Amino acid sequence: MCVIRVEHLRKSFLLDKTAIHAVDDVSFSVDEGEVFGLIGLSGAGKSTLVRCLNLLERPDSGEIWFDGLNLVEQDDSVLREKRCRMGIIFQHFNLFMRKTVWENVAYPLRIAGQRTKEIIPRVEELLDYIGLSAHARSYPAELSGGQQQRVGIARALAMNPRLLLSDEATSALDPVNTELVLSMLRKVVDDLGIAVILITHQMEVAKALCDRIAVMENGKIVEENTVEELFLRPRHAVTRRMIRGFDEDIPLEHFADLTSAPVYRLGFRSQTVTRPLISDISRRFNVDANILAGNINALVGGDVGYLVVSFEGEEEAVCGALSSLHEDGVEILKLEPGNGQNNGVGLHAKEEVR
Ligand SMILES: Nc1ncnc2c1ncn2[C@@H]1O[C@H](COP(=O)(O)OP(=O)(O)O)[C@@H](O)[C@H]1O
Ligand SMILES: [Mg+2]
Repeated sequence: MCVIRVEHLRKSFLLDKTAIHAVDDVSFSVDEGEVFGLIGLSGAGKSTLVRCLNLLERPDSGEIWFDGLNLVEQDDSVLREKRCRMGIIFQHFNLFMRKTVWENVAYPLRIAGQRTKEIIPRVEELLDYIGLSAHARSYPAELSGGQQQRVGIARALAMNPRLLLSDEATSALDPVNTELVLSMLRKVVDDLGIAVILITHQMEVAKALCDRIAVMENGKIVEENTVEELFLRPRHAVTRRMIRGFDEDIPLEHFADLTSAPVYRLGFRSQTVTRPLISDISRRFNVDANILAGNINALVGGDVGYLVVSFEGEEEAVCGALSSLHEDGVEILKLEPGNGQNNGVGLHAKEEVR
């Protein structure tokens, strides 16, 4: 069931008399139990979009359907009520530093006018859920970043939201705490079946958690797909910049050796990722496969992998090898040396091979 549906959302800012289209005709929807990733480089418009979703920022136009209502048309009292149904967590946790962990989690319940009798068991339940019951009387400064973000999650869940908005929630954390917070979020989605919109500039974070990903650039969603398909067939230059296996992964010193042989990025789905397809075609078509880079990504929907390979052999043999791989469901992109557009380094996708 659809939790939130956004239609043609726009928000501009005027800066020195020029309009910045921070959110430019954005549409998407997120279902129950689904983690929807919004990724993009800094300045893409991600945070503005989130602020528009809970109407902390008024969009210029567009619709936001949530709980059966178009939020854009609602008055303040309805909005206050609906905002309670959207939990939000932030990069810098935004906890009250002078309140205890217990009071931080209780805060939204108090604001909603609940009585202490109701608040106590709920806060205890939430602290138990995030594994911080022992820290109920601690202050945020006494906790690690990962623990503080777990308090942020408990606070966001206090009012039983249908939607959780996460804006760069792991960006201030080290890798270990990032991992802990991500697994906590996954548990929340699996246990509670809520919808999550996960905003991040880190593909590594999105890939660990998301079912679907939308890529933003200059206020627009330039590409949207399931995580697996996005990794296998990234279509937009920004997406390719954010995924391994295009630019940053291929050591420059290899390029001199590569000039004559064409180079391909092969994307493997979970069914093919463990099959010895390369040695198989190498034998059958008499081509030499020179593997330059490769990786397997464990994604929510299964593993996908890629190899960057140059093939040496008769042109016809290489063609046959590529067709055979294509028939086996491998996604093939021909790569060529950097053309200066994306920093001019590495290899850049040139064309999809059918
Ligand atoms: N209040 C504001 N006034 C003027 N410009 C803003 C404001 N908020 C955001 N912007 C601009 O909108 C664009 C998108 O910003 P933001 O939504 O913060 O991007 P992201 O979260 O993806 O880094 C940027 O160019 C930013 O400078
Ligand atoms: Mg931001």
